[in-house]
Amino acid sequence: MDKNKGFFDRFKIIGRWVGKKNGSNTPKNVNYLSAKELRMISRENRKITEELESKRKRVGVLESEYRATMKNPDNILEIDNLHTYFFTDIGVVKAVDGVSFNVPKGKTVGVVGESGCGKSVTSLSIMHLVQRPQGQIVEGEIRFDSGDMIYDIAKTPTDRMQKIRGNKISMIFQEPMTSLNPVFKVGMQIDEVIELHNSHMTRDLVKRRTIEMIEMVGIADSEGVYEMYPHELSGGMRQRAMIAMALACSPKLIIADEPTTALDVTIQAQIMDLLRTLKDKINSSIMLITHDLGVIAEMADFVVVMYAGRVVEQGSARDIFYNPLHPYTVGLMASKPGKDKNVERLYSIPGSVPNPIDMPNYCYFKDRCDRAFEACNGEYPPTYSISETHKVACYHYANGGVTHDRS
Ligand SMILES: Nc1ncnc2c1ncn2[C@@H]1O[C@H](COP(=O)(O)OP(=O)(O)OP(=O)(O)O)[C@@H](O)[C@H]1O
Ligand SMILES: [Mg+2]
Repeated sequence: MDKNKGFFDRFKIIGRWVGKKNGSNTPKNVNYLSAKELRMISRENRKITEELESKRKRVGVLESEYRATMKNPDNILEIDNLHTYFFTDIGVVKAVDGVSFNVPKGKTVGVVGESGCGKSVTSLSIMHLVQRPQGQIVEGEIRFDSGDMIYDIAKTPTDRMQKIRGNKISMIFQEPMTSLNPVFKVGMQIDEVIELHNSHMTRDLVKRRTIEMIEMVGIADSEGVYEMYPHELSGGMRQRAMIAMALACSPKLIIADEPTTALDVTIQAQIMDLLRTLKDKINSSIMLITHDLGVIAEMADFVVVMYAGRVVEQGSARDIFYNPLHPYTVGLMASKPGKDKNVERLYSIPGSVPNPIDMPNYCYFKDRCDRAFEACNGEYPPTYSISETHKVACYHYANGGVTHDRS
């Protein structure tokens, strides 16, 4: 952190520059930056991103620089104080701002939170797929146990990462049509993943494995689908083909980013069932990102609740569903339809997420919170441990779960 001091000071300057507009307490309007201000921001952005890029592109990086040790060997992934920022022309978007959570081996961790809270950027950071050069991991560790070695993915060079991505960690994206290449046959695209990570396999063996994978994800006409282009498949079949591709190398960690949002409810249930069965079959772990609390309730062993680039609460599924603590989680639970809820309108959390370029220096949820009290005007709350599994970042729980009175 210390060796980055000068670098961090520089992007604080950008924050201050944007923050200078309209005084310090009023919302700053980042839509009206003068040409001079814009030039200054893009000059600073360039300096910062070039510095980070040159670090990332170094050749001959020693393995010892990115070798890590797990805090708990039962975890497959440990995300520790991750900061991923986008250096845009109107300022620094702190998309992920100090996120920490673990994925235990063999378990499913659900990540929930409002649109734009940094769920996808967290998963893209794990995969080294954040849009560079403007998107950069600027701080934190992502420790991953690949079986052969424990990597700190945040420091792993790109060429080494190519051996992990698709092989040890794979990702199922939200919209399969944008992830499958429209000009290649489905079978060829799955073949490519297998070939890339198994150079010793013959073409026949690769094809056999692909067909086996297509069958495994529940597509009956596997030989036929092997020869089809993505546009010839239905949405559900495309998503299954994506899952086949993601699981082709039996990854240790599967990241599923809203894998069923574009599908109807029955197909959604089938895909989720499939994912769960396959996960157990290949002895993998899942990080499941979704808006759907119903899916989380059914699939997840642990739940992480994110809000505006930070984790506000995390715990076992039981902790979060039966004892939600953070006012945001309580609001989320209240806005979920349920069979015992006989209401005309479902609850919606008033207000909206603060501008990610100019976050307040107090709790990000305070302005929408109906339980805010004096302490909430102070710094962003630290994370309090309520039990071994349950943690919450809210001043109401500063005394180990004792709730303060409302003011
Ligand atoms: N390439 C980019 N350039 C600039 N900002 C970006 C970029 N990608 C994401 N962001 C910003 O990062 C923040 C987090 O985005 P992210 O995609 O992680 O949200 P999300 O939680 O996945 O939302 P959703 O549920 O809608 O998918 C948002 O404020 C978004 O505007
Ligand atoms: Mg997303």
